[in-house]
Amino acid sequence: MKLWGGRFEEGPSEVFERFSGSLHFDRRLIFADIQGSQAFARALESVGILTAAEREQLVAAFDQLAADAERPGFYEGATDEDVHTLVIRKLGEKVGALSGKIHTGRSRNEQVSLDVRLWLRGEIDRALELLAGLMRALLECALHDPEAVVPGYTHLRRAQPVLWAHYLLAYFEMFARDFERLQQARVRVNVLPLGSGALAGSGFPFDREAIARDLGFAAITNNSMDVSGDRDFALDFLYAASTAMLHLSRLSEDWILYSSEEFGWLELGDGVTSGSSLMPQKKNPDSLELIRGKFGRVFGDLNSLFVIMKGLPMTYNRDMQEDKEPLFDAADQLCGSLAMAREVVATAKLRPERPAQAAEESWVVATDLAEALARSGTAFHEAHQIAGRLVLESVRTGKKPSDWDAASLKAFAPEFTPECAAVLNPSEGMKTREITGGTGPAHVKAALDAAAARLKQLHA
Ligand code: ARG
Repeated sequence: MKLWGGRFEEGPSEVFERFSGSLHFDRRLIFADIQGSQAFARALESVGILTAAEREQLVAAFDQLAADAERPGFYEGATDEDVHTLVIRKLGEKVGALSGKIHTGRSRNEQVSLDVRLWLRGEIDRALELLAGLMRALLECALHDPEAVVPGYTHLRRAQPVLWAHYLLAYFEMFARDFERLQQARVRVNVLPLGSGALAGSGFPFDREAIARDLGFAAITNNSMDVSGDRDFALDFLYAASTAMLHLSRLSEDWILYSSEEFGWLELGDGVTSGSSLMPQKKNPDSLELIRGKFGRVFGDLNSLFVIMKGLPMTYNRDMQEDKEPLFDAADQLCGSLAMAREVVATAKLRPERPAQAAEESWVVATDLAEALARSGTAFHEAHQIAGRLVLESVRTGKKPSDWDAASLKAFAPEFTPECAAVLNPSEGMKTREITGGTGPAHVKAALDAAAARLKQLHA
């Protein structure tokens, strides 16, 4: 079936039909299409196009259609151009000629925007819930080992000691911002486009605010041409999804390293790892590698839509049909990755002695030492030099920080004080970092409490 044809003498060629048809992917919008069409039937009644009885009949037929669409074989043999066409054809099979009234004063251009917005709103809600689940898992992981000390890295070289909980809370912050970004995208998605017509506004005096209330939209769009030509609500989602995936990919990379034999900090759950077909000893972090890889896909989806939209003349162009596959893919990969990451985090076990040993054996305390010297009156530049010389001497003679004490430090350089000897222990040095946002244990404890309260709010 076609929603057009009067103007044509010949039908579309087979190649063109196959090339332009979108039913095989946009059928994913069917429930949104039905929901939007039911609201539209009510709007048609309110402008006198449908009687109450007709509206009732149509709404009931749409309900049946939604139930039919759940059954296998529903799409078998369908050759409709897109999901919107299929829905109207199937409606016709139920109500006959009455189905011809449902598209009064409506264009597929606004219908696509409406359906995508309804569908995307649901996907964002799903992603938000999964994101909160991951944040909870990170917090629980931190609370499991609240005192564990790890080397923090810059340039992937041991830099300064931090609490494991502080490291995990860094990701909590990133995901909290991703949560906000998704919520902000949702605000732009949650706007009713219906009433815009093809591009010039509908020729029927719909109460657009009433339709918005009916469908749970917080606002209505301001300009019909904008509606037909715009996809930046989808770009906003794709950007938010890409950023969340970026953070997921970095967490994945960290944990692939931390669970390697070389680091040995983390034991990943058996359930999220796989073996090798050849090498019997292997336990590979495939779940994390896939998340890392899927960032590329989602970022590609963002890139796709940007390039599709670039330079399009106002208003609707069929190019825009290409928006859906990247959007569907990004939502699927984001939600899949969030669920996967949550399970990895929830089943991983820290072996706190391994990173503690890494922190103790290396010179991550060197900054604490230089700052201790500065606190006792040595100029920082000089303190840096002294601490640097101590490290060089230790590297030469194979000494760890714990091989020094107050007396040997004093003998090495008279500027060293007893406080300097204390910070040779990584856990002690951290206590000097009691500042908001720092790894000082009291502040990390407060940050953990605050994170728990923020999580509760996300669910409020
Ligand atoms: N399947 C099309 C899409 O997703 C529907 C809109 C068709 N509109 C048109 N004017 N040809 O963009």
